[in-house]
Amino acid sequence: MLKSLSNHNNSMIWKQFQNIRLVLVLLLMTLALSINPAIAKEASAEVKKTLGPKACTRCHKESARVWKHSKHYKTYKEIPRKRIAKKRAKKMRFKQIKSNSLCVNCHFTAIQPGSRTRTVAGISCESCHGASKDWIDIHSDFGGRGVRANEETPEHKIQRHFQSESKGMIQLSNTYELAKNCYRCHTVPEEKLVNIGRHPAGSDFELIQWGQGENRHNLWHTENSNNALPQAQLRTMYVIGKALDLEYALHGLAKATVDSGYFQHMAERERNALNDLKNISSLIDSTEVTSIIELVDTLKISINNPSYETIANKVGELNRIFSIMTDGAKLQPLDSILPNPDDYKGKVYQP
Ligand code: HEC
Ligand code: HEC
Ligand code: HEC
Ligand code: HEC
Repeated sequence: MLKSLSNHNNSMIWKQFQNIRLVLVLLLMTLALSINPAIAKEASAEVKKTLGPKACTRCHKESARVWKHSKHYKTYKEIPRKRIAKKRAKKMRFKQIKSNSLCVNCHFTAIQPGSRTRTVAGISCESCHGASKDWIDIHSDFGGRGVRANEETPEHKIQRHFQSESKGMIQLSNTYELAKNCYRCHTVPEEKLVNIGRHPAGSDFELIQWGQGENRHNLWHTENSNNALPQAQLRTMYVIGKALDLEYALHGLAKATVDSGYFQHMAERERNALNDLKNISSLIDSTEVTSIIELVDTLKISINNPSYETIANKVGELNRIFSIMTDGAKLQPLDSILPNPDDYKGKVYQP
């Protein structure tokens, strides 16, 4: 009896200690975050155009079901609960992760119907497909009132896709732009957040491995079966992912001002992505991949070198061209290095 009581006390003390530690970490993070007004501004323009997942799920019910099984969905409730010791946070007048614009940028979906910003979900449809206010009406008009999607004429559909894209929707055909979003968040290109806030540096991310497990929602064009993507598409996607990793490592390095954890991590990320691209290049013939390697191979990586930004953008441009021009059917040698489906992150949802 006595023993269990003291165990209980010990665990209380331990919990309190953990709470204090977490609050400190979060406090450091917020300090770190006052840092980047440019990002906050960009975010608020995005936020104004964001409607939240309900705008999509009323039609895309199956996609919504998949999403609800993913970490991107669950994180909305999990992260604040796990990480903020609420009582103490209140006492310290510490603002929650949900009200810090930098954290929100990567962790949540925020909308701004009036003058106040409000988080409504974790990472959701528009985080990847583009904020929808300017395109939702076009996207869901199949040829006038009362015309259903399956009655749409082919001409109307082409025009609708084209117009939605010009208003900010990222169409599936644009793999490069679609995948770019993943890297914007998953490489964590924020020096102070990582060095001072002790936020985890970028994820050990690979596009197919992380995109084709719990996140896979190929439910529209494959009649609700959530099948794997065609092999040809996986091949190009693999290359696009590696080139994006390189691009975002360079974006990240361009912002490095101290030789510390953040810089080391980004430098390693850059080398790994380059080596993977060299490996790809030894198997297939692609002018874009060859040009990307030539651009980056002789770089000497150092801190305080904002010019990496220009190189990153060139890598991105070549990757975009690769994404449009390449026929995955001709990249068969890549099959030997594509990630194994057993290693996909999370369980593929079957409706
Ligand atoms: C009124 C119903 C409706 C709403 C609302 C709606 N969609 Fe769609 N969506 C469709 C239909 C029907 C299709 C299939 C036709 C097509 O390819 O555009 C589609 C197709 C798509 C595609 C595949 C397009 C492609 O390139 O092949 C994506 C991605 C998509 N929707 C995302 C969204 C997102 C994100 C939202 C919310 C911001 C949304 N949709 C809201 C009906 C809707
Ligand atoms: C640039 C995007 C980005 C920003 C900004 C960002 N995060 Fe994260 N955060 C991530 C990603 C990506 C992960 C997941 C890392 C992984 O598991 O691979 C993550 C994970 C976390 C975790 C879980 C870490 C763990 O060890 O389990 C916490 C807590 C967290 N972030 C808090 C914050 C807070 C608080 C802020 C704002 C001060 C913030 N993040 C800002 C991208 C970001
Ligand atoms: C708006 C920022 C953002 C975007 C865009 C984004 N992610 Fe994430 N993702 C996160 C954060 C933050 C977490 C961690 C959540 C947590 O730990 O609670 C995460 C978690 C994940 C996880 C779960 C990892 C685990 O350890 O279980 C996978 C898988 C994933 N993301 C894949 C992707 C893919 C693939 C894309 C692009 C198609 C993508 N993400 C786009 C922010 C983002
Ligand atoms: C983490 C990023 C991410 C999130 C979140 C996300 N999608 Fe997607 N979505 C993608 C990608 C990438 C594809 C392309 C297919 C693939 O790679 O699996 C896609 C494909 C689609 C398609 C076409 C499916 C088909 O059969 O070809 C639709 C429709 C769609 N998404 C709607 C949604 C809706 C609705 C939501 C929110 C409930 C959502 N997506 C959330 C990244 C995302």
